[in-house]
Amino acid sequence: MKNIKKRLLDRKDIFTDIIGQEEVKKNIKSGLISGRNLLIVGAPGIGKTTLARNIANVLTEGKFVRIQGSPDLTVEDLLGDIDPIKAMKYGASSIEAFTKGKIFKADKGVLFFDELNRCPEKLQNALLQVLEEKKATIGGYDVDFDVDFIFIGTMNPEDSSTEKLSDVLLDRFDVVYMGYPGTSESEKDIVTIKDKGLAKVEEEFLDLMIDLVREIRDDDDVEKKPSVRASIGLYERSQSNALVNGRSSVDFSDIKNSVVSVLAHRIRLKPNVKYLKSPEGFVKEKFEKLAENKYSGLKAKGGGP
Ligand SMILES: Nc1ncnc2c1ncn2[C@@H]1O[C@H](COP(=O)(O)OP(=O)(O)OP(=O)(O)O)[C@@H](O)[C@H]1O
Ligand SMILES: [Mg+2]
Repeated sequence: MKNIKKRLLDRKDIFTDIIGQEEVKKNIKSGLISGRNLLIVGAPGIGKTTLARNIANVLTEGKFVRIQGSPDLTVEDLLGDIDPIKAMKYGASSIEAFTKGKIFKADKGVLFFDELNRCPEKLQNALLQVLEEKKATIGGYDVDFDVDFIFIGTMNPEDSSTEKLSDVLLDRFDVVYMGYPGTSESEKDIVTIKDKGLAKVEEEFLDLMIDLVREIRDDDDVEKKPSVRASIGLYERSQSNALVNGRSSVDFSDIKNSVVSVLAHRIRLKPNVKYLKSPEGFVKEKFEKLAENKYSGLKAKGGGP
């Protein structure tokens, strides 16, 4: 693909859909300039897909093929298969009988492989050959992959239900680690940039929501942490609660009434606390404490204790 290097170097801030994450953006840029296969490693809901789409939009005219890694995904889904009807027509060993798989659709675009570590080993091996030799063996065929794409994979390191990526496959990648938004400010920006305008949210109420999510995230007792989607969810649900209650502006009770529904199922407590507290109780308690200690003035703004 032509001009990618130039395009990347010409603009300082190129991945504008992603707020913050400056180190990640720099690493991605550098990886792309040298034509590496990239593996973005990070928890759910921190902007991996958004970033990959942004890369496609600025570098490959939006050409973006997404493959969802899963234990059911087969080599044939990915690379292609022999079509029985065409095989009857052209003969089973003829290349015309071959129907191209998803990977071919990514030519001159971004091939985005989500949750690469959820794929069976067999598929990882097929991919290995494609990335290395641009060749694969399917059925009796040696298929040449004359395709040109930017490969971006993702992996959630905390997902224990998955295959380990083999060392040989990992050796084909540069890994870029992505974390939760570095500051409350960038998390607030992410949330407000997506504002659907359902109801007005005063700054201090937004502060309370983001503080709550970030405090739960940083709590040592929490094993599975709430993502940026949780922040967005809390913001939107508080807004719709206001509407349901006939107001055009969010008040304290609207937030209070959405915390359990938005946050409780998104977290998992560490085993040592799990038997003492439920996620619902934990989230409620966190909210009460934060409201009491840092935002006591807000209760007066509606909803009572
Ligand atoms: N740094 C960021 N800048 C802009 N938007 C962000 C950022 N981080 C998260 N988001 C927003 O959070 C939501 C989730 O992001 P996205 O779907 O890209 O996450 P993901 O890492 O791909 O999640 P998953 O692992 O679950 O697929 C989106 O609405 C996205 O716009
Ligand atoms: Mg995603």
